[in-house]
Amino acid sequence: MLKVDFSKSGIKDITQYQSKIDEIHQKLVNKSGEGNAYLGWYDWPLNYDKQEVENIKALYHELKGTYDCILVCGIGGSYLGCRAAAEMLRGLYPEGIELIYIGNTFSPNYLKQILNYIDHKEPILNVISKSGTTTETALSYGIFSAYLKKRYGAVYKKRIIVTTDKEKGNLKQSALKYDYPCFVIPDDIGGRYSVSTAVGLVPLALAGIDIEAILKGSLAAKEKYNASNLEINDAYRYGLSRYLLQQKGYDVEMLVTYELQLVSFAEWFKQLFGESEGKDGKGILPTSVCFSTDLHSMGQFIQDGKKLLFETLLYIKECGDDIHFMGEEASIAQMDYLADKDLSWMNEMMAKGTIAAHHEQGNVPIISLELKDNSAFSFGYLIYFFYLACATSCYLNEINPFNQPGVEIYKKKMFELLGKE
Ligand code: PA5
Repeated sequence: MLKVDFSKSGIKDITQYQSKIDEIHQKLVNKSGEGNAYLGWYDWPLNYDKQEVENIKALYHELKGTYDCILVCGIGGSYLGCRAAAEMLRGLYPEGIELIYIGNTFSPNYLKQILNYIDHKEPILNVISKSGTTTETALSYGIFSAYLKKRYGAVYKKRIIVTTDKEKGNLKQSALKYDYPCFVIPDDIGGRYSVSTAVGLVPLALAGIDIEAILKGSLAAKEKYNASNLEINDAYRYGLSRYLLQQKGYDVEMLVTYELQLVSFAEWFKQLFGESEGKDGKGILPTSVCFSTDLHSMGQFIQDGKKLLFETLLYIKECGDDIHFMGEEASIAQMDYLADKDLSWMNEMMAKGTIAAHHEQGNVPIISLELKDNSAFSFGYLIYFFYLACATSCYLNEINPFNQPGVEIYKKKMFELLGKE
Protein backbone atom coordinates (compact mmCIF):
# COMPACT_ATOMS: atom_id res chain seq x y z
CA MET A 1 0.00 0.00 0.00
CA LEU A 2 2.72 2.47 1.04
CA LYS A 3 6.38 1.78 0.23
CA VAL A 4 8.83 3.86 2.20
CA ASP A 5 12.45 4.17 1.09
CA PHE A 6 14.95 5.56 3.58
CA SER A 7 18.05 4.69 1.52
CA LYS A 8 18.68 8.32 0.51
CA SER A 9 17.91 9.83 3.91
CA GLY A 10 21.44 9.55 5.23
CA ILE A 11 20.03 8.07 8.45
CA LYS A 12 21.57 4.69 9.21
CA ASP A 13 22.07 3.63 12.81
CA ILE A 14 18.54 3.47 14.07
CA THR A 15 18.68 0.38 16.28
CA GLN A 16 20.02 2.37 19.23
CA TYR A 17 16.69 4.25 19.24
CA GLN A 18 14.57 1.12 19.46
CA SER A 19 14.03 1.35 23.22
CA LYS A 20 12.94 5.00 22.91
CA ILE A 21 10.48 3.99 20.19
CA ASP A 22 9.22 1.11 22.37
CA GLU A 23 8.46 3.68 25.06
CA ILE A 24 6.61 5.92 22.61
CA HIS A 25 4.65 2.95 21.31
CA GLN A 26 3.51 2.17 24.86
CA LYS A 27 2.53 5.81 25.39
CA LEU A 28 0.27 5.58 22.34
CA VAL A 29 -1.17 2.14 23.08
CA ASN A 30 -1.78 2.87 26.78
CA LYS A 31 -2.73 6.47 26.13
CA SER A 32 -0.22 7.62 28.68
CA GLY A 33 1.83 10.13 26.66
CA GLU A 34 1.71 13.89 27.07
CA GLY A 35 -1.57 15.27 25.73
CA ASN A 36 -3.13 11.83 26.27
CA ALA A 37 -6.61 13.33 26.55
CA TYR A 38 -6.37 13.75 22.74
CA LEU A 39 -5.17 10.30 21.77
CA GLY A 40 -8.61 9.18 20.62
CA TRP A 41 -7.44 9.10 16.98
CA TYR A 42 -5.16 6.14 17.78
CA ASP A 43 -8.01 3.61 18.15
CA TRP A 44 -10.57 5.55 16.12
CA PRO A 45 -10.41 3.26 13.03
CA LEU A 46 -11.58 0.45 15.34
CA ASN A 47 -13.78 2.36 17.76
CA TYR A 48 -15.43 4.98 15.58
CA ASP A 49 -19.09 5.63 16.15
CA LYS A 50 -20.76 3.29 13.63
CA GLN A 51 -24.21 4.81 14.23
CA GLU A 52 -22.85 8.28 13.45
CA VAL A 53 -21.54 7.00 10.11
CA GLU A 54 -24.97 5.49 9.35
CA ASN A 55 -26.58 8.83 10.24
CA ILE A 56 -24.21 10.69 7.93
CA LYS A 57 -25.03 8.31 5.07
CA ALA A 58 -28.76 8.65 5.78
CA LEU A 59 -28.47 12.44 5.64
CA TYR A 60 -26.72 12.16 2.27
CA HIS A 61 -29.60 10.06 0.89
CA GLU A 62 -32.18 12.43 2.36
CA LEU A 63 -30.62 15.58 0.90
CA LYS A 64 -29.34 14.15 -2.39
CA GLY A 65 -30.68 16.08 -5.37
CA THR A 66 -31.48 19.22 -3.34
CA TYR A 67 -27.99 20.75 -3.58
CA ASP A 68 -25.15 21.05 -6.05
CA CYS A 69 -22.51 22.56 -3.79
CA ILE A 70 -21.46 22.38 -0.14
CA LEU A 71 -20.19 25.38 1.76
CA VAL A 72 -17.61 23.76 4.02
CA CYS A 73 -17.31 26.27 6.83
CA GLY A 74 -14.29 25.70 9.08
CA ILE A 75 -10.67 26.59 9.65
CA GLY A 76 -7.46 24.63 10.32
CA GLY A 77 -8.19 21.07 11.35
CA SER A 78 -11.87 21.69 10.76
CA TYR A 79 -11.49 21.92 6.96
CA LEU A 80 -7.99 21.10 5.71
CA GLY A 81 -8.50 17.33 5.87
CA CYS A 82 -11.76 17.48 3.95
CA ARG A 83 -10.16 19.59 1.25
CA ALA A 84 -7.09 17.34 1.10
CA ALA A 85 -9.26 14.25 0.67
CA ALA A 86 -11.72 15.77 -1.79
CA GLU A 87 -8.97 17.02 -4.11
CA MET A 88 -6.75 13.96 -3.81
CA LEU A 89 -9.65 11.63 -4.60
CA ARG A 90 -11.60 13.61 -7.19
CA GLY A 91 -9.07 15.98 -8.74
CA LEU A 92 -9.31 19.75 -9.00
CA TYR A 93 -12.18 20.05 -11.48
CA PRO A 94 -14.48 17.15 -10.64
CA GLU A 95 -17.95 16.57 -11.92
CA GLY A 96 -20.71 16.42 -9.34
CA ILE A 97 -21.04 18.21 -6.04
CA GLU A 98 -18.75 21.21 -5.68
CA LEU A 99 -17.00 21.95 -2.40
CA ILE A 100 -16.55 25.62 -1.52
CA TYR A 101 -14.47 26.61 1.50
CA ILE A 102 -15.53 29.40 3.83
CA GLY A 103 -15.11 30.05 7.54
CA ASN A 104 -11.34 30.36 7.18
CA THR A 105 -10.90 34.07 6.47
CA PHE A 106 -12.01 37.60 7.28
CA SER A 107 -11.45 38.66 3.67
CA PRO A 108 -14.62 40.47 2.54
CA ASN A 109 -13.34 40.23 -0.99
CA TYR A 110 -13.24 36.41 -0.93
CA LEU A 111 -16.54 36.02 0.91
CA LYS A 112 -18.29 38.43 -1.45
CA GLN A 113 -17.02 36.42 -4.42
CA ILE A 114 -18.54 33.28 -2.89
CA LEU A 115 -21.84 35.02 -2.16
CA ASN A 116 -22.04 36.14 -5.78
CA TYR A 117 -21.02 32.74 -7.09
CA ILE A 118 -23.55 30.70 -5.11
CA ASP A 119 -26.43 32.86 -6.28
CA HIS A 120 -26.43 30.62 -9.35
CA LYS A 121 -26.05 27.41 -7.36
CA GLU A 122 -28.08 25.38 -4.85
CA PRO A 123 -25.84 25.42 -1.76
CA ILE A 124 -25.98 23.65 1.58
CA LEU A 125 -23.88 24.77 4.51
CA ASN A 126 -21.88 22.49 6.79
CA VAL A 127 -20.44 24.52 9.63
CA ILE A 128 -17.66 22.70 11.48
CA SER A 129 -16.07 23.87 14.73
CA LYS A 130 -15.04 21.79 17.71
CA SER A 131 -14.90 24.74 20.09
CA GLY A 132 -17.94 26.30 18.46
CA THR A 133 -16.42 29.70 19.04
CA THR A 134 -13.78 30.19 16.33
CA THR A 135 -14.20 33.73 15.05
CA GLU A 136 -13.53 33.23 11.34
CA THR A 137 -15.90 30.25 11.23
CA ALA A 138 -18.63 31.94 13.30
CA LEU A 139 -18.43 34.98 11.02
CA SER A 140 -19.07 32.94 7.86
CA TYR A 141 -21.73 30.91 9.65
CA GLY A 142 -23.60 34.11 10.45
CA ILE A 143 -23.26 35.61 6.97
CA PHE A 144 -24.10 32.44 5.03
CA SER A 145 -26.97 31.23 7.20
CA ALA A 146 -28.57 34.67 6.93
CA TYR A 147 -28.07 34.43 3.16
CA LEU A 148 -29.75 30.99 3.04
CA LYS A 149 -32.64 32.23 5.19
CA LYS A 150 -33.23 35.20 2.93
CA ARG A 151 -33.00 33.12 -0.22
CA TYR A 152 -34.93 29.99 0.78
CA GLY A 153 -37.39 31.28 3.42
CA ALA A 154 -38.66 28.86 6.06
CA VAL A 155 -37.11 25.77 4.42
CA TYR A 156 -33.59 27.17 4.74
CA LYS A 157 -33.08 24.97 7.80
CA LYS A 158 -32.92 21.95 5.50
CA ARG A 159 -29.72 23.49 4.15
CA ILE A 160 -27.69 23.80 7.33
CA ILE A 161 -25.75 21.01 9.04
CA VAL A 162 -23.64 21.50 12.14
CA THR A 163 -20.59 19.53 13.27
CA THR A 164 -19.38 20.42 16.75
CA ASP A 165 -18.90 19.30 20.34
CA LYS A 166 -21.60 17.00 21.74
CA GLU A 167 -22.73 19.59 24.30
CA LYS A 168 -20.48 22.65 24.63
CA GLY A 169 -20.04 25.86 22.65
CA ASN A 170 -22.06 28.54 20.88
CA LEU A 171 -22.47 26.45 17.76
CA LYS A 172 -24.08 23.59 19.68
CA GLN A 173 -26.50 26.07 21.29
CA SER A 174 -27.31 27.49 17.88
CA ALA A 175 -27.91 24.01 16.40
CA LEU A 176 -30.29 23.21 19.26
CA LYS A 177 -32.10 26.54 18.95
CA TYR A 178 -32.67 26.23 15.18
CA ASP A 179 -32.98 22.45 15.15
CA TYR A 180 -30.23 21.79 12.62
CA PRO A 181 -28.91 18.24 12.11
CA CYS A 182 -25.88 17.97 14.33
CA PHE A 183 -22.84 15.67 14.23
CA VAL A 184 -20.30 15.19 16.98
CA ILE A 185 -16.58 15.86 17.13
CA PRO A 186 -15.22 13.47 19.79
CA ASP A 187 -13.75 15.07 22.90
CA ASP A 188 -10.54 13.10 22.65
CA ILE A 189 -9.62 13.96 19.04
CA GLY A 190 -8.08 17.33 18.19
CA GLY A 191 -8.79 19.23 14.96
CA ARG A 192 -5.78 18.18 12.91
CA TYR A 193 -6.25 14.49 13.80
CA SER A 194 -9.97 14.56 13.00
CA VAL A 195 -10.37 14.03 9.24
CA SER A 196 -12.04 10.65 9.67
CA THR A 197 -14.51 11.87 12.31
CA ALA A 198 -17.67 13.76 11.38
CA VAL A 199 -15.38 16.76 10.71
CA GLY A 200 -14.30 15.32 7.37
CA LEU A 201 -16.83 12.55 6.91
CA VAL A 202 -19.94 14.76 6.73
CA PRO A 203 -18.85 17.00 3.83
CA LEU A 204 -17.05 14.14 2.08
CA ALA A 205 -20.12 11.87 2.28
CA LEU A 206 -22.33 14.71 1.06
CA ALA A 207 -19.95 15.05 -1.89
CA GLY A 208 -20.60 11.39 -2.68
CA ILE A 209 -17.28 10.02 -1.42
CA ASP A 210 -17.07 6.53 0.11
CA ILE A 211 -16.34 7.49 3.72
CA GLU A 212 -16.22 3.92 5.00
CA ALA A 213 -13.32 3.24 2.63
CA ILE A 214 -11.39 6.06 4.36
CA LEU A 215 -11.99 4.42 7.74
CA LYS A 216 -11.02 1.00 6.37
CA GLY A 217 -7.79 2.48 5.01
CA SER A 218 -6.93 3.95 8.41
CA LEU A 219 -7.70 0.61 10.04
CA ALA A 220 -5.35 -1.17 7.61
CA ALA A 221 -2.61 1.32 8.54
CA LYS A 222 -3.29 0.87 12.25
CA GLU A 223 -2.89 -2.90 11.82
CA LYS A 224 0.22 -2.55 9.67
CA TYR A 225 1.97 -0.20 12.12
CA ASN A 226 0.92 -1.91 15.35
CA ALA A 227 4.37 -3.14 16.40
CA SER A 228 7.15 -0.94 17.67
CA ASN A 229 9.96 -2.70 15.76
CA LEU A 230 11.68 0.00 13.70
CA GLU A 231 12.73 -2.55 11.08
CA ILE A 232 9.11 -3.12 10.12
CA ASN A 233 7.26 -0.03 11.32
CA ASP A 234 7.85 2.62 8.66
CA ALA A 235 5.66 5.20 10.41
CA TYR A 236 7.84 5.14 13.52
CA ARG A 237 10.97 4.99 11.40
CA TYR A 238 9.87 8.03 9.41
CA GLY A 239 9.09 9.92 12.64
CA LEU A 240 12.52 8.98 13.97
CA SER A 241 14.30 9.84 10.70
CA ARG A 242 12.78 13.32 10.71
CA TYR A 243 13.97 13.82 14.27
CA LEU A 244 17.49 12.61 13.44
CA LEU A 245 17.66 14.73 10.30
CA GLN A 246 16.91 17.77 12.41
CA GLN A 247 19.67 16.76 14.81
CA LYS A 248 21.98 16.87 11.78
CA GLY A 249 20.92 20.46 11.05
CA TYR A 250 18.04 19.96 8.62
CA ASP A 251 15.43 22.28 10.10
CA VAL A 252 13.08 22.28 7.12
CA GLU A 253 11.06 19.40 5.69
CA MET A 254 9.77 19.85 2.17
CA LEU A 255 6.89 17.60 1.20
CA VAL A 256 7.19 16.99 -2.53
CA THR A 257 4.17 15.91 -4.53
CA TYR A 258 3.87 15.26 -8.25
CA GLU A 259 0.19 15.92 -8.74
CA LEU A 260 -1.43 19.34 -8.46
CA GLN A 261 -4.41 17.64 -6.84
CA LEU A 262 -2.17 16.93 -3.84
CA VAL A 263 -1.44 20.59 -3.10
CA SER A 264 -4.22 20.66 -0.49
CA PHE A 265 -2.96 17.40 0.96
CA ALA A 266 0.36 19.19 1.47
CA GLU A 267 -1.50 22.00 3.27
CA TRP A 268 -3.02 19.39 5.60
CA PHE A 269 0.42 17.83 6.14
CA LYS A 270 1.92 21.23 7.00
CA GLN A 271 -0.76 21.93 9.56
CA LEU A 272 -0.42 18.48 11.12
CA PHE A 273 3.31 18.77 11.63
CA GLY A 274 3.58 22.53 12.09
CA GLU A 275 0.90 22.86 14.73
CA SER A 276 1.90 19.65 16.50
CA GLU A 277 5.66 20.09 16.58
CA GLY A 278 6.33 23.82 16.43
CA LYS A 279 6.44 24.71 20.11
CA ASP A 280 8.82 25.31 23.00
CA GLY A 281 11.33 26.77 20.53
CA LYS A 282 11.54 23.41 18.75
CA GLY A 283 10.23 21.73 15.61
CA ILE A 284 10.94 21.22 11.92
CA LEU A 285 9.42 23.83 9.60
CA PRO A 286 7.12 21.92 7.22
CA THR A 287 6.96 23.28 3.67
CA SER A 288 5.74 21.88 0.39
CA VAL A 289 6.23 21.97 -3.34
CA CYS A 290 4.59 20.28 -6.30
CA PHE A 291 6.96 19.09 -9.03
CA SER A 292 7.54 19.79 -11.79
CA THR A 293 5.56 23.05 -11.36
CA ASP A 294 7.70 24.29 -8.47
CA LEU A 295 10.99 23.15 -9.96
CA HIS A 296 10.65 26.41 -11.86
CA SER A 297 10.28 28.44 -8.68
CA MET A 298 11.95 26.62 -5.78
CA GLY A 299 14.16 24.19 -7.69
CA GLN A 300 17.12 26.54 -7.70
CA PHE A 301 17.10 26.93 -3.91
CA ILE A 302 16.69 23.22 -3.31
CA GLN A 303 19.58 22.40 -5.62
CA ASP A 304 22.06 25.12 -4.72
CA GLY A 305 20.76 27.09 -1.75
CA LYS A 306 21.57 26.81 1.94
CA LYS A 307 21.58 23.17 3.04
CA LEU A 308 18.77 23.37 5.55
CA LEU A 309 16.12 21.14 4.06
CA PHE A 310 15.33 17.50 3.44
CA GLU A 311 12.67 16.24 1.06
CA THR A 312 9.84 13.83 1.78
CA LEU A 313 8.54 12.64 -1.55
CA LEU A 314 4.95 11.56 -1.88
CA TYR A 315 4.55 9.73 -5.15
CA ILE A 316 1.24 8.14 -6.12
CA LYS A 317 1.72 5.21 -8.44
CA GLU A 318 -1.73 5.14 -10.02
CA CYS A 319 -3.31 8.55 -9.92
CA GLY A 320 -6.24 8.83 -12.29
CA ASP A 321 -6.07 9.30 -16.03
CA ASP A 322 -3.13 9.10 -18.39
CA ILE A 323 -2.48 10.90 -21.66
CA HIS A 324 -0.70 9.34 -24.58
CA PHE A 325 1.48 11.91 -26.38
CA MET A 326 0.61 11.25 -30.01
CA GLY A 327 3.12 11.43 -32.83
CA GLU A 328 1.37 14.47 -34.32
CA GLU A 329 1.36 16.30 -30.98
CA ALA A 330 5.05 15.54 -30.50
CA SER A 331 5.79 16.82 -33.96
CA ILE A 332 3.88 20.12 -33.37
CA ALA A 333 5.83 20.61 -30.12
CA GLN A 334 9.07 19.63 -31.88
CA MET A 335 9.67 16.89 -29.32
CA ASP A 336 9.76 13.81 -31.53
CA TYR A 337 11.80 11.95 -28.93
CA LEU A 338 8.65 11.87 -26.79
CA ALA A 339 6.31 10.65 -29.53
CA ASP A 340 4.01 7.84 -28.45
CA LYS A 341 5.03 8.02 -24.79
CA ASP A 342 2.62 8.30 -21.85
CA LEU A 343 2.64 11.42 -19.69
CA SER A 344 2.62 9.28 -16.53
CA TRP A 345 5.96 7.81 -17.68
CA MET A 346 7.32 11.33 -18.33
CA ASN A 347 6.19 12.42 -14.84
CA GLU A 348 8.01 9.42 -13.38
CA MET A 349 11.17 10.23 -15.36
CA MET A 350 10.99 13.84 -14.16
CA ALA A 351 10.71 12.56 -10.58
CA LYS A 352 13.69 10.20 -11.01
CA GLY A 353 15.80 12.87 -12.70
CA THR A 354 14.99 15.36 -9.96
CA ILE A 355 15.91 12.89 -7.22
CA ALA A 356 19.26 12.32 -8.92
CA ALA A 357 19.88 16.06 -9.24
CA HIS A 358 18.83 16.98 -5.70
CA HIS A 359 20.29 14.01 -3.86
CA GLU A 360 23.38 13.02 -5.83
CA GLN A 361 24.48 16.50 -6.83
CA GLY A 362 22.71 18.71 -4.33
CA ASN A 363 23.27 16.46 -1.27
CA VAL A 364 19.66 16.83 -0.20
CA PRO A 365 18.51 13.95 2.06
CA ILE A 366 15.40 12.30 0.66
CA ILE A 367 12.75 10.02 2.15
CA SER A 368 10.46 8.51 -0.49
CA LEU A 369 6.87 7.46 0.08
CA GLU A 370 5.15 5.62 -2.75
CA LEU A 371 1.41 5.25 -2.32
CA LYS A 372 -0.45 2.67 -4.41
CA ASP A 373 -3.22 4.95 -5.67
CA ASN A 374 -5.39 7.96 -4.84
CA SER A 375 -8.40 5.98 -3.59
CA ALA A 376 -10.38 6.78 -0.42
CA PHE A 377 -8.82 3.69 1.19
CA SER A 378 -5.29 4.91 0.40
CA PHE A 379 -6.12 8.37 1.73
CA GLY A 380 -7.28 6.85 5.03
CA TYR A 381 -4.12 4.76 5.19
CA LEU A 382 -1.84 7.71 4.49
CA ILE A 383 -3.33 10.06 7.08
CA TYR A 384 -2.97 7.42 9.78
CA PHE A 385 0.67 6.88 8.77
CA PHE A 386 1.32 10.61 9.17
CA TYR A 387 -0.56 10.81 12.52
CA LEU A 388 1.70 8.09 13.94
CA ALA A 389 4.86 9.61 12.51
CA CYS A 390 3.94 13.05 13.80
CA ALA A 391 3.24 11.83 17.34
CA THR A 392 6.56 9.92 17.23
CA SER A 393 8.60 12.97 16.20
CA CYS A 394 6.89 15.11 18.83
CA TYR A 395 7.45 12.63 21.65
CA LEU A 396 11.10 12.26 20.62
CA ASN A 397 11.32 16.06 20.96
CA GLU A 398 9.49 15.93 24.30
CA ILE A 399 6.68 18.00 22.88
CA ASN A 400 2.95 17.58 23.44
CA PRO A 401 1.70 16.79 19.89
CA PHE A 402 -1.92 17.67 20.58
CA ASN A 403 -2.10 21.24 21.86
CA GLN A 404 -1.51 24.58 20.13
CA PRO A 405 -1.00 27.18 22.86
CA GLY A 406 0.77 29.58 20.49
CA VAL A 407 -2.36 30.00 18.36
CA GLU A 408 -4.17 31.62 21.28
CA ILE A 409 -1.81 34.60 21.34
CA TYR A 410 -2.96 36.09 18.02
CA LYS A 411 -6.55 35.57 19.13
CA LYS A 412 -5.97 37.52 22.35
CA LYS A 413 -4.35 40.43 20.49
CA MET A 414 -7.05 40.38 17.81
CA PHE A 415 -9.90 40.29 20.34
CA GLU A 416 -8.48 43.33 22.10
CA LEU A 417 -8.54 45.19 18.77
CA LEU A 418 -12.00 43.86 17.83
CA GLY A 419 -13.40 44.94 21.20
CA LYS A 420 -14.35 41.45 22.45
CA GLU A 421 -14.64 41.35 26.23
O1 PA5 B 1 -5.90 21.37 14.83
C1 PA5 B 1 -6.54 22.12 15.54
O2 PA5 B 1 -6.92 21.82 16.68
C2 PA5 B 1 -6.91 23.51 15.04
O3 PA5 B 1 -6.37 23.73 13.77
C3 PA5 B 1 -8.43 23.66 14.97
O4 PA5 B 1 -8.95 22.65 14.14
C4 PA5 B 1 -8.81 25.03 14.42
O5 PA5 B 1 -8.26 26.04 15.21
C5 PA5 B 1 -10.33 25.18 14.40
O6 PA5 B 1 -10.86 25.04 15.67
P1 PA5 B 1 -12.39 24.78 15.89
O7 PA5 B 1 -12.75 23.47 15.27
O8 PA5 B 1 -12.58 24.78 17.36
O9 PA5 B 1 -13.15 25.90 15.23
